[in-house]
Amino acid sequence: MKPVTLLFLFVCGLSHFNHAQSHVIPTPQFYEQLPGEPFKFSLLITDITSVPKSTSDVLFSWNNTFRNLVEKKSDSIPIALKVRLNQTTEKHPENDFYELSFDGKLINIHYTSDASLLYAYSTLLQLINDEGHQLSLRPFTLKDYAKFPWRGLHLDVCRHFFTVDEVKRYIDIMAFYKYNKFHWHLTDDQGWRIEIKKYPLLTEIGGYRDSTLNDHYNTSPRTWNTEHYGGFYTQAQIKDVVKYASDRGVTIVPEIEMPGHARAALAAYPDLSCTGIQQPVTGLWGVFDDIFCSKEETISFLQDVLTEVVELFPSEYIHIGGDEAPKTRWKTCEKCQNNMRKYQLKDEHELQSWFIRQMDEFLTRKGRKLIGWDEILEGGLSPNAAVMSWRGEEGGIAAANEQHEVVMTPGSHCYFDHYQGDSQTEPLAFGGYTPLEKVYAYNPVPAGISPDNKKYILGAQANLWTEYIADFKQVEYMVYPRALAMIQNTWSTNKPDYQSFINTLTNRQFDLLKYWNVNYSLSFAKPVFKITKEDQGIVITGTSIDNNPVNIASKCTSEKKGKELIIMGPSIYFSRSGSDAKTYRITAFENKFHSSSTINFINHKGIGLTIEFITPPNKRYAHNLESTLIDGVLGARPWNGSQWLGFNKGNVEFIVHMDEKINYKHVTTSALDATTSWIHLPDSVVVYGSDEGVNWKEIARQKVTGEQTKIALKGKNKQLKFVYTTLDAIPEGMPGEGYKPFTFLDELIFE
Ligand code: ACM
Ligand code: ZN
Repeated sequence: MKPVTLLFLFVCGLSHFNHAQSHVIPTPQFYEQLPGEPFKFSLLITDITSVPKSTSDVLFSWNNTFRNLVEKKSDSIPIALKVRLNQTTEKHPENDFYELSFDGKLINIHYTSDASLLYAYSTLLQLINDEGHQLSLRPFTLKDYAKFPWRGLHLDVCRHFFTVDEVKRYIDIMAFYKYNKFHWHLTDDQGWRIEIKKYPLLTEIGGYRDSTLNDHYNTSPRTWNTEHYGGFYTQAQIKDVVKYASDRGVTIVPEIEMPGHARAALAAYPDLSCTGIQQPVTGLWGVFDDIFCSKEETISFLQDVLTEVVELFPSEYIHIGGDEAPKTRWKTCEKCQNNMRKYQLKDEHELQSWFIRQMDEFLTRKGRKLIGWDEILEGGLSPNAAVMSWRGEEGGIAAANEQHEVVMTPGSHCYFDHYQGDSQTEPLAFGGYTPLEKVYAYNPVPAGISPDNKKYILGAQANLWTEYIADFKQVEYMVYPRALAMIQNTWSTNKPDYQSFINTLTNRQFDLLKYWNVNYSLSFAKPVFKITKEDQGIVITGTSIDNNPVNIASKCTSEKKGKELIIMGPSIYFSRSGSDAKTYRITAFENKFHSSSTINFINHKGIGLTIEFITPPNKRYAHNLESTLIDGVLGARPWNGSQWLGFNKGNVEFIVHMDEKINYKHVTTSALDATTSWIHLPDSVVVYGSDEGVNWKEIARQKVTGEQTKIALKGKNKQLKFVYTTLDAIPEGMPGEGYKPFTFLDELIFE
C-alpha cells in the first residue's frame, strides 16, 4: 500500500470516529459505531453469575429505575439481548478501565473492577434506544477509563439537614454518572450531624438550633425563623450509607471541621473554646470568631472524634476542614499564646499549622491521609496533607508544586451554590455566577504547575453549600445539569464542544434524568441579552443559547399606559436623549424550551457614552467592559457575576467622555456590598471635570455610605474623571480577612 493511501485511510477513520456522537455522559474515551442496522429487542438479560451480590443488586436497582430501557411488554415471544460479563483480573494502567461492544448479536463487557462494571452498565443503558413498543441498539465498540482518580461531589448537611434516603439518592445519581468521591460535610457552625459515642452532646445539643436566618445574609434588616431545626445520623445509619456508596463505587470522604466552623461543637462543649462561654448553635451564616482553642484538651477531643470517624469511614482521605478560622480568640487566649511560646511558633497561622499537624500525625498513624481546605497552607503545610483548593487555583498550584496531592475545587467554577442564571428570576442563592457553560469550560489542571508535578492533581470536585437550600428538590436543581458538565472535566479526555454537550443534554440526558425523577434546571437555556454600545446609544439583542436570534418585546414602564411593543426580530436600538430617564421592560422569547428572559432598561442621559479605564478591572469580572457602566441595565442583586465590573487592585479610576449636547445635573453611581464574597463598598468617590482632558478640577467629593451614591454635577464638562478610594485590606473577622477586597461597580445613571 502506498503511503498516500495509508494517510487517506487514517484521515477517513479519524473523521468517522469524530462524527460518531454517543450522547453518553461522561463522554467515553473511544466510541465507534459499527456498520449494521439497529438490533430490535424487548428484553435485556445480563448474566450476573460471576458478580458479587452487592454489585448485582445495584444493576437490578438500575434496571428498576430504567425499566423502560431493559424490558418491553409485548404479546409475542420476547426477543432477548444478552449481556456477557468478562472480568479481567490484570491491573490496567488506566483507572477503572472497561470495554463494551455490541456486534449485532451479543453485548460484551470486559471490566477491571466492580466499579468499572457499573460504569460499563451505565454507559450501556445510555446507549439503548426506547422506541415505544421495543428497544434498539446499534452495533458499536467502546473503550473507556477515567482521566482523574478524584471525581467528587460534596454536600453540606449542616446548614440544612438531608435525610439518609436523600443522601442515598444523591449518591445513586452521582454513581450513575461515574463520580467516585462523595464529600460529606458533616460538621459546621449550624449543626453537628454525626453521632460520636464518646461525646453524645455533640448531636444532642450540637445537632439542633432554635433560629435560622430568613432571606439572604446581606438582606437587612435580618429576620429569623424560630423553629427548632436539625437532625443527625446515627453510627448505624452512617455504616449503612457507607456501604450503600461503596456498592456503587463511591468512597465517602467525611469532613470534620476544625479549628473553625465549630460553633455547634462548642455549644455542646463550651470548655473547648478559648473563652469557655456557652453560646447557642447558630442559625446565621458566615464566619465566627469562636473556634476550637488549641489547648491539649481540644486536641485529644478531636483525636477521639477522628478515632470514631476512622472506624466508620474506610476512606483513605479524611477531611479536617481548616478553612475560615479567624485568629481573634487565639490572639487573646493565654493557653493559645502559651502554646505558641512552647512550640516556638511565630504567629497564629503557625499555630493553626501546628494544630493541623497534630491531626495529620494522628491520621497518618492510623494509616489514613489528611485533606483540608487551602488555608492549611498558611503557616506551613503539614508533611502528608492533601489540599482542596477552593479560594481560586493558587492554593492548588502552590501545594502541587510542593508535591502535595491536590483536589481542585475553585469557587469560580466548582461552587454549585452559586447562581446558574439571572439572580432576579432564580431561587435565592449564595451569590456568584457559575453557569453551565463556565462549569463545562473548567480544566482541573491549572497553568503554573511544573510538568513533573501535574500528577499531584488528583482531580476536581463540585461543592454544594446549603445555606439557601432547604429541600432536596432544590439540591437537585442546583446540581443538575451542572454535575453533568463537571464530570466531563474529570472523566473525559476528549469532551466535545459546549454546543455538542447541549445537544447531548437535550437529545438524551434530560430523558435519562427524568427516569431518576431529577428536578434539573433549565436556566442555561434561557435566551440571553447582548447589549452593545452604538453611536449615540445602545443596541439590545436577544439570542438563544445556540446563538440564534430570538424575538423580543419592549414596554415602557415609566408611563401609566406604556404600550407593549413586540419586535419581530432580535434587536432594539435606544438612542441617548437629553430628556428625563424612562424605564422599559424588555423580554426575549425562545421556542425550544419555551423560556423567556426579562431585563429592565433605563434610558438615561448617559447611555452609550465612551469610558476610558485607567484602572483595568480584574479579567474575570470585566463583562462587556465597553458598555457595562452605561448600558442602562443595573447590576443584578444578589450579585450573579455578570453586569458588574470588578476591581481588586486598590483605587479605581476612569474617564467618561460626555455628550456636549446634553445638560447633566446628577450622576448616581452604584457599588455592591457583598462582604461574604469579599466585595466591599469603596470608601469615597471624587469626580473631576475637564474641558481638554488635562486640567482636572474637582467638582464633587462624597463619602460612600450605601450602594447608591448620588452626586451633583456642576458646569459643562467634556470629560468627567471618577476616582473611587477603596479599603487596603478586608478587616479582621470578615471573610477573606487581610486580602484586598473587590470593588464592584455598575451603572452610572446620568440625569
Ligand atoms: C469553603 O467554601 N469555606 C471551603
Ligand atoms: Zn485558646
